[in-house]
Amino acid sequence: MLALRDVAKTYDSGNTHALDDVSLAVGDGEFVALVGPSGCGKSTLLNLIAGLDTPDDGEILVDGQALDAEQRLARFGYMPQEDLLFPWRSVLDNVSLGLEVQGLPRAAARERALAQFETFGLAGFEDRRPRELSGGMRQRAAFLRTVLLDRPFLLLDEPFGALDAITRAQLQTWLSEMLAEMWAQSRGSALLVTHDPQEAVTLADRVYLMSPRPGRITSVIDVDLPRPRSEAATTSEHAHRLIDELRRQTEQTALAP
Ligand SMILES: Nc1ncnc2c1ncn2[C@@H]1O[C@H](COP(=O)(O)OP(=O)(O)OP(=O)(O)O)[C@@H](O)[C@H]1O
Ligand SMILES: [Mg+2]
Repeated sequence: MLALRDVAKTYDSGNTHALDDVSLAVGDGEFVALVGPSGCGKSTLLNLIAGLDTPDDGEILVDGQALDAEQRLARFGYMPQEDLLFPWRSVLDNVSLGLEVQGLPRAAARERALAQFETFGLAGFEDRRPRELSGGMRQRAAFLRTVLLDRPFLLLDEPFGALDAITRAQLQTWLSEMLAEMWAQSRGSALLVTHDPQEAVTLADRVYLMSPRPGRITSVIDVDLPRPRSEAATTSEHAHRLIDELRRQTEQTALAP
């Protein structure tokens, strides 16, 4: 269980106020989305949780314990907003890199990664360079690299950010099914950043809405749609009402002074 209490973060010696008083919680087995306008501090928040940075104020608790940045680095599986694939490494070497960094011998790391290529729709592209992949494939490769670390808590920053609407919808379904399968064996949690109300309602159990910078949580919406999320559920009237409500609130906060 992850809990943030009154987390604040500034940059540029206090001149850029990125986050203010952010409190939120993600329980075991929960999929939570964070929605907010561009620049409101969503990526900053994930960087703080992942342990790449430290808050100026407030606490980040995991199972009730305040963990320092190094402990958080070992705890979360983080898929950052940019795919960060190395252009000179093959897809396979990119994907297995995380396991190698964790100390697994290269051959074993490659073997474990290879076993997942089919499932992630990347079979046949093991030896290609990232630039030879489509945007969706690169995002799946980045996701595979994150998943292979086998961390129980995933932080996903706009995993479908740069994609067209159709590919995006396909990958949302795919992600949803993939996580359901992974979590059927061992329960996991995820915090997903998106600026898209439809994506949040399709994937999440709960949505936190953030204000423009400095990012604060302005409201919380429970997504009481059944799981697994069938197309019927995510296109139902109730789902549309939730999406509309979220959209309305997003527009309101974006316009607030
Ligand atoms: N390392 C940094 N140094 C200085 N300023 C930063 C740094 N990281 C983020 N910021 C600033 O903090 C604010 C929030 O940025 P952040 O990237 O968290 O926004 P975001 O909500 O993820 O936006 P987007 O939806 O566009 O990805 C911005 O004003 C940004 O310029
Ligand atoms: Mg961002």
